[in-house]
Amino acid sequence: MTLQLDPRRVAMLREMGLQLLPPIAPPAAQAAVEPSAPPASLAAAAAPVARPVADASAAAPAPVAVVPPGAIASLDWAGLQAAVQDCRACGLCESRRNAVFGTGPATAEWLIVGEAPDEDADAAGEPFVGQDGQLLDNMLRSLGLDRRRNAYVANVLRCRPPGGRNPEPAELAQCEPFLRRQVELLQPRIILAMGRFAVQSLLQTTEPIGRLRGRVHRYHDVPLVVTFHPAYLLRNQPDKAKAWADLCLAMDLLEGRVAG
Ligand code: URA
Repeated sequence: MTLQLDPRRVAMLREMGLQLLPPIAPPAAQAAVEPSAPPASLAAAAAPVARPVADASAAAPAPVAVVPPGAIASLDWAGLQAAVQDCRACGLCESRRNAVFGTGPATAEWLIVGEAPDEDADAAGEPFVGQDGQLLDNMLRSLGLDRRRNAYVANVLRCRPPGGRNPEPAELAQCEPFLRRQVELLQPRIILAMGRFAVQSLLQTTEPIGRLRGRVHRYHDVPLVVTFHPAYLLRNQPDKAKAWADLCLAMDLLEGRVAG
């Protein structure tokens, strides 16, 4: 671990509840992570997408996908965003307040992938807006990252499972083409997958996080590093040190200090 730790970063690590600090690196190593491109907000304009025709005579119409899964692969960013907002491919559309597409600049080199919108994210239409979002922001800041500037944040599941229940495999599979297309369009240099459902869904595995941490995986050719979900870290403070090691692995990978 060779990250430069300035006083602000040390404060962030403290915020994460970390006692152990990694060795100091030369300042040049950190400078390399700062983006050269100016921040760019994503266009929010929604492309026209055909909506299902309402059938007043049907008591409970079965959810239908507005865009067939095969067509998602050819959508542009605005079309993808509209397809997510209008998606009725699984039953989660019935109880969601908002489908959560993601936030961040289209130029981001980092893609952070969480699990599913919680109540706050569902209400706001944005990922990670609660307490776990604050911890995520602190974790990102400790790496010189900011979701408004150089990190894109999304979830494997776009709609909140009712009552915050665990996502079901069929729901994750149904939603996967959205993330896959988002990755193709964003072309991130690295993916940080947070939490069991994100990790297992992206890597198509049932291995526990503990067995997947500490090495570099791939999601459709993009290097992927596994870590704990911020909500888990809020409940399990000692594992914050492991999460910090995961972040350092991701940064080392991006800066060429470890091989992908
Ligand atoms: N937890 C997640 O995994 N994603 C969110 O958007 C909010 C909470």
